[in-house]
Amino acid sequence: MGAEMKRFLVTGSSRGLGLSIAALLAEYDYHVIMLARPSPHFDEAFQHLNNQFKHVSKLDCDLSDRIEISRVVKQIIDNNNRLDGIVFNAGIIHPISPMHETNDTQWEENIHVNLLSIQQMTKGLMPLLMSTERTRITTISSGAAIRPIHSWSAYCVAKAGLEMWTKCLAEEYQTHNISAISVAPGIVDTGMQEDIRNSNPNKFPSHAQFVDFFQTGALSSSDDVATKLMHLVTEHTMNQSGSRYDVRDL
Ligand SMILES: NC(=O)c1ccc[n+]([C@@H]2O[C@H](COP(=O)([O-])OP(=O)(O)OC[C@H]3O[C@@H](n4cnc5c(N)ncnc54)[C@H](OP(=O)(O)O)[C@@H]3O)[C@@H](O)[C@H]2O)c1
Repeated sequence: MGAEMKRFLVTGSSRGLGLSIAALLAEYDYHVIMLARPSPHFDEAFQHLNNQFKHVSKLDCDLSDRIEISRVVKQIIDNNNRLDGIVFNAGIIHPISPMHETNDTQWEENIHVNLLSIQQMTKGLMPLLMSTERTRITTISSGAAIRPIHSWSAYCVAKAGLEMWTKCLAEEYQTHNISAISVAPGIVDTGMQEDIRNSNPNKFPSHAQFVDFFQTGALSSSDDVATKLMHLVTEHTMNQSGSRYDVRDL
């Protein structure tokens, strides 16, 4: 591991878009810190990347758990002098249900994973982020941040909050060399789309439309999306900080 190697943390990198982003960053010679909940599929994804690139490390963390986040923040601070970037990609879609029928615990967990964990983690990691060198933060958002989707209330609220959180970070930390952008990735062929197709059609009016996206080949591959995102993730300028992008416009 070269001392000069730039370091990126990628959350939700056990599978889906996060894994594609982590793999591409490693290929571009960044040291990648992968983060997800402990699982055999995460172990396998990490082993695969680490065998190929060597400069990859792995953190097990459940982002719905404040204590776990504190533990992992300490671990990152203890093991790194700085971070050159973070991709806040981890996300969950559930609950998929009309607002009055949602399970309170699931609704709150959604906000915790998709939004609150990002604030907690960033605040904790500030000593590594504020520096004379640039730190680039990218949050993975969604079209659901800017338009309400029936039965996705928690997800829409979390992603809308995440986009404003990103703008606030950009606003407050420009003088500390931290920039932040959000990116909507389009409709990507990942586990999240499977979760959507596996949801109860009686509780989700657009169910058939999402099945149709899959059956007609309208989903993008996570590797293609990661390729399109990479320049923004690694090179976005301070002038771009605070902006929202949609992969379909790139
Ligand atoms: N797929 C789409 O069409 C689409 C569209 C718009 C936006 N997005 C956004 O793109 C991002 C990536 O989603 P994806 O489609 O790649 O979904 P995915 O395949 O379901 O992957 C989600 C990732 O988040 C991690 N994660 C979930 N809950 C977690 C928790 N409590 N703690 C730690 N990690 C957790 C998962 O890890 P483990 O489960 O292994 O812990 C996994 O690595 C999300 O922010 C999503 O909202 C996706």
